[in-house]
Amino acid sequence: MGWRGILGFEYGIIQAPLGPDISGPELVAAVASAGGLGLLRAPDWEAPDYLRELIRKTRTLTDKPFGVGVVLAFPHKENIRAILDEKVAVLQLYWGECTEDIVLEAHKAGVKVVPQVGSFEEAKKAADVGVDAIIVQGREAGGHVIGQDALISLLPRVVELVQGRDIPIIAAGGIVDERGYVASLALGAQGIAMGTRFLATDESYAHPAYKRKLIELDETEYTNIFGRARWPGAPHRVLKTPFFMNWRTLPSDENETNQPIIGHSTIHGMEKDIRRFAGTVPNPTTTGEIESMAMYAGQAIGLIKEILPAGEVIKRVVAGAKLLINQKFACDIQG
Ligand SMILES: Cc1cc2nc3c(=O)[nH]c(=O)nc-3n(C[C@H](O)[C@H](O)[C@H](O)COP(=O)(O)O)c2cc1C
Repeated sequence: MGWRGILGFEYGIIQAPLGPDISGPELVAAVASAGGLGLLRAPDWEAPDYLRELIRKTRTLTDKPFGVGVVLAFPHKENIRAILDEKVAVLQLYWGECTEDIVLEAHKAGVKVVPQVGSFEEAKKAADVGVDAIIVQGREAGGHVIGQDALISLLPRVVELVQGRDIPIIAAGGIVDERGYVASLALGAQGIAMGTRFLATDESYAHPAYKRKLIELDETEYTNIFGRARWPGAPHRVLKTPFFMNWRTLPSDENETNQPIIGHSTIHGMEKDIRRFAGTVPNPTTTGEIESMAMYAGQAIGLIKEILPAGEVIKRVVAGAKLLINQKFACDIQG
């Protein structure tokens, strides 16, 4: 019965936080209203008032619970305070230490804590500080990739690690449809987190040209050429766009700081110059050389053929998973 919900949500489907400023209130509300867990993305700087507005705007669009993702590599203390004050359902954490203090504070506010990890060791630390669920990210994932292991080998190890403890494990990386969902359930996960699939929806803030590329292109690469100065030591998976293929061997001493400005974006309400090799992806406010900007995507991008409403993604994945389990696997087992 793996398509049943987790953490109090109707379904075991999470929309991964998409940074910077790609999973806004419209996407999160659409996912929440369809029974999934939608995650806003906090800014990479302290902006508690802005974040409160984002949360409140989301609440005007849905009466269902949702969460917020915070990247711990950036300033975040006041943002987390605002998230806990607003008592959203879930605080998702990534790229930094999920401490017992954070978990205790969150639980005091009635907020569940769900870190995303990329290794067995990181999962062990998270389980030991009392988190409510763990997202296991495989190297197949789009966007920043914290670990080296493929999901198919890492996930069952983490499932074994938490055996007997009430910590649902959620699979992330290269999952875009019911096949990935059912495969994750077979590996012991109770839910899935999809980033790229929700990036390619009507409601995401990806620039239209980025959405077009998500449909056109089928290949990705694990690289570190984007955003080296702002977020050092943070490899990522991107679409193999013509720009990326021209520059994929960028010398290791180069980074975005000495590069020309190729465009402008408003990110979480702040005007930003976009330099070549910046780590930010184009959103609808972005102007300039859009096709020369970072375009994150996961390894299953070749399976995404159309931009869909986010609610439709959830409907299809849930219905497809039920069908696959009931008709294909149930019959196979009986036969
Ligand atoms: C455009 C984009 C932005 C992302 N931003 C974040 C983020 O801000 N925080 C985070 O925890 N994960 C982020 N991720 C990674 C996701 O949490 C997740 O691990 C990944 O999307 C799963 O792989 P998939 O894209 O193949 O579904 C991002 C992924 C993408 C594609």
